[in-house]
Amino acid sequence: MFQKLQAKWKVNGWKLLLIIITFALGGSLCGYAGRKILNLLPIDQRWLWIVLYVLLITLLWPVCVLIISIPLGQFGFFKKYVQRVGRKMTGRKNISREGGKAGKRIAIFASGAGSNAKQIIEYFEGTNVTIAVIVCNKPEAGVLNIAAANHIPALLIKQERFFKDDAYVAELQSYSIDLIILAGFLWKVPPALIKAFSGKIINIHPALLPKYGGKGMYGHRVHEAVITAGEKESGISIHFVDDLYDHGAVIFQASCPVSETDTAASLAQKIHVLEYRHYPEVIGKLLNPNL
Ligand code: GRF
Repeated sequence: MFQKLQAKWKVNGWKLLLIIITFALGGSLCGYAGRKILNLLPIDQRWLWIVLYVLLITLLWPVCVLIISIPLGQFGFFKKYVQRVGRKMTGRKNISREGGKAGKRIAIFASGAGSNAKQIIEYFEGTNVTIAVIVCNKPEAGVLNIAAANHIPALLIKQERFFKDDAYVAELQSYSIDLIILAGFLWKVPPALIKAFSGKIINIHPALLPKYGGKGMYGHRVHEAVITAGEKESGISIHFVDDLYDHGAVIFQASCPVSETDTAASLAQKIHVLEYRHYPEVIGKLLNPNL
């Protein structure tokens, strides 16, 4: 559970501990302040007291966690967190996708569960980066549910048109995309698309390229190959996409140890932690190099 939270919030162990302490102290402060305020009022009915208490602590909670987060050095995290909760409660889901003059627009290509896509969406919520479209080639892929839940347009592509016809170039251009992000997209990107978005397509591969990449190297196959070879470390590679599988220039790599007891599943988990922490950040830097 803690590992999942670390990956979701993109934090290390110490920061997670401070965040949990902030939640606990903020919650206690909120409850205490709520009771003190209500006891000042002449409320006789118990039910009314409870209703007002619930309303009051809902309003006080963000203020209390923000106050507690300052001495614990977690204000930046909680400011974003409170904004996100606020947006979810008020249903203002599209705020980050409106763009703005300096807004950037990305397309995410994915054909699997879409856990990386989800991290990227959450990372850019409330920023000037718009997830303009999610492109997918599998009607049953989990990423399509993620697109729907986040009100992001989804484009379900067909093999024939992608490889033999126009490769959806004009349709994708109509979204005014600054960067195409491959996140678990297994089809090779056709030359027409690479040409149309030259230097603007990136991929994440779950190993340290140039090792363990190429045709057929995806999912657990990669981790099994790493383990069978007795590697002591594996990791992630974020790279530009060219017309060969897992071949373009590497932009970023991060590694993790491979232990003797690791299985493909446990190694995949370690790799996911790295992916969630770094992929959104690297995308952010590519879009806004000055930040
Ligand atoms: C990731 O491990 C990524 O490295 C690879 O495909 C996987 C996609 O996983 N290219 P998910 O669909 O984002 O969960």
